[in-house]
Amino acid sequence: MKILHLDVSASDVATSHTRRLTSRLVERLKEANSGATVIYRDLVANQLPHVDLTILHAWMPENANDPELIATLGRSKALVDELKAADVVVVGSPMYNFTVPSTLKTWIDHVAIAGQTFSYTAEGPQGLLSGRAYLVLSSGGIYSEGASAGNDHLSGYLEAVFRTLGLEQINVIRAEGVAYGPEQDRAAMEAAIERIEELTAAA
Ligand SMILES: Cc1cc2nc3c(=O)[nH]c(=O)nc-3n(C[C@H](O)[C@H](O)[C@H](O)COP(=O)(O)O)c2cc1C
Repeated sequence: MKILHLDVSASDVATSHTRRLTSRLVERLKEANSGATVIYRDLVANQLPHVDLTILHAWMPENANDPELIATLGRSKALVDELKAADVVVVGSPMYNFTVPSTLKTWIDHVAIAGQTFSYTAEGPQGLLSGRAYLVLSSGGIYSEGASAGNDHLSGYLEAVFRTLGLEQINVIRAEGVAYGPEQDRAAMEAAIERIEELTAAA
């Protein structure tokens, strides 16, 4: 099993909810699957540039040897190949202003490449990947239910991205309401850890 592990919290592992949770999840997946290998990308420590037109030009076959585009193509291709090779993708994403941090959005822009990870068909986009994703999400407020549910542009968005790329099984793990005080913070982390244990017991 090949695991691609992405973290995008601006906080370090000592304080980040998502970093602590993804680390535990990956450990559990490794325990359940001997020989599993992990590629780790910290998209905060190693930030990607925002995409611009060069990425589209770089993927065009006629530009394959353009010296000015080789670096762009190399970077994008490495990210795409890593994702293609993964059987399992683990993404730890805090909610920033109702959605993904821009570091994660930028990674998505680099890997959602028509002809590589999805294709356009008469029936709409078709994913070219397969596998499983674990979306480990954290937010100060509560969005899985209640008055703010309509402002959740994080879980549905990430599910849509990975489903469009072809991943069949998407598991969501949430630690939410962490800004509502230490008790809720602790309860949210405990609930998320419990969910990780449940999901990985069958992994
Ligand atoms: C820039 C920024 C924007 C945030 N926006 C929201 C938000 O829109 N809604 C929310 O409930 N929490 C928001 N939060 C709080 C985080 O989602 C919350 O603290 C989460 O647990 C962070 O995950 P982490 O501990 O892994 O970094 C924001 C935090 C930051 C730093």
